[in-house]
Amino acid sequence: MLHKLEVLFLKIYMFIFKLVTMIMPFRWPKTFEGADSSLKLVQFMASQGHKNILVVTDAVLIKLGVLNKIFDELQRLGIAYHVYDGVEPNPTVAQIESGYDLCDKHDCKAILAVGGGSPIDAAKMIGARAKNKKPIVKMTGLFRVYRGMLPLYAVPTTAGTGSECTIAAVVTDPVQRKKLAAMDLQLMPTAAALDGALMTGLPAHITAATGMDALTHAVEAFVSRNAFGRTDEKAIEATKLIMKHLDTAVTDGSNVEARQQMARASHLAGIAFTQAGVGYVHAIAHKFGALYHTPHGLANAIVMPHVLDYSVDNCAPRLAYLAKACNIGPAGGTDRQLADAFIQRIRDMNAKFGIPTQLDKLKASDITEIAQSALAEARFTYAVPRYMDMPTAEGVIRKMLMAA
Ligand SMILES: NC(=O)c1ccc[n+]([C@@H]2O[C@H](COP(=O)([O-])OP(=O)(O)OC[C@H]3O[C@@H](n4cnc5c(N)ncnc54)[C@H](O)[C@@H]3O)[C@@H](O)[C@H]2O)c1
Ligand SMILES: [Fe+2]
Repeated sequence: MLHKLEVLFLKIYMFIFKLVTMIMPFRWPKTFEGADSSLKLVQFMASQGHKNILVVTDAVLIKLGVLNKIFDELQRLGIAYHVYDGVEPNPTVAQIESGYDLCDKHDCKAILAVGGGSPIDAAKMIGARAKNKKPIVKMTGLFRVYRGMLPLYAVPTTAGTGSECTIAAVVTDPVQRKKLAAMDLQLMPTAAALDGALMTGLPAHITAATGMDALTHAVEAFVSRNAFGRTDEKAIEATKLIMKHLDTAVTDGSNVEARQQMARASHLAGIAFTQAGVGYVHAIAHKFGALYHTPHGLANAIVMPHVLDYSVDNCAPRLAYLAKACNIGPAGGTDRQLADAFIQRIRDMNAKFGIPTQLDKLKASDITEIAQSALAEARFTYAVPRYMDMPTAEGVIRKMLMAA
């Protein structure tokens, strides 16, 4: 148990954090939505006078031809572009540096990021690196991107991280064995396109994992003590859309309508957590990503039921609200029954999507390091509904250990 005074101190700190977040001047991206919205985004870039840009993406998307129509549109509009496709899942500092070298070499004045959270986050840091001329790691943490970034236009191809509308960029530092988050208002993209048709080739297991990431954003934002009316509205809408469309997006990947609705859900969840924050699910999942390269969405999906089981004592009415909004649980059930039904639904979704309840790579000898890292990440950043101390965090993480 954390000392009562410590919990009180953290609550007061987080309350001040909440007030600051509520009045901070967020500049949300101009958003294009629907069929060929990615091309409309390119046209918007042209209207902004961009003539020489860096396209940040990954090699898989290039190989699949996901960007072909976008390249055609750039050519048609006479925008010169240079492609950096060296981003891999959980992008590293070195990959960002390589992208920056290309950007600098060709003197690109804006960036178009097309991809999942990895290329969009990498693009944010490449753009920040171009403006700040200081090491990537020094820009991680809160509000350390002093001089902004190059104008960034984002097309998410997963649904997803919501990175196209967040002020965060997550970078892996293999030296520290950590995932580091840069959070700064200036990391918000200028504009974004939610083009579900670009997602039809996303394999079922990645669709499931990334969809569960979006669900984690919505749920952690909703149970956060920093939630307020605007974030609640987005988190509820996102949760409803995910509960309705994720299954179809996974089982019938070519269903453009389900893809489009999931793109919207991911975007709304991104807006919600940008102001309300996430929680211990992300804090633990980030360390899994850093230590074992576990894909971000998969890590969240595995961790979420375990953390919610612990948190439910302090947020049953909030989870019950989400359950009712999604028609989950017994009619007339108590808050606790509905909250438990909501958590059970998450377990059922994981089971259906083939997502395990334990992490096969998790080593017993790493549990203390993971717990320390998660508690440190959450302490002054996330307004979690129920705090953990070290033994509790270790206990929650131990539940994800495969039986020997
Ligand atoms: N900035 C934020 O606010 C934020 C929020 C949550 C997570 N993240 C970060 O985002 C990263 C994860 O991003 P992600 O989950 O979107 O995955 P990702 O970008 O790492 O992509 C996962 C895989 O899916 C493939 N892929 C992507 N789109 C595809 C498509 N349309 N068709 C076929 N294959 C496709 C990629 O090539 C890659 O192999 C992590 O580093 C995570 O920490 C950032
Ligand atoms: Fe996430």
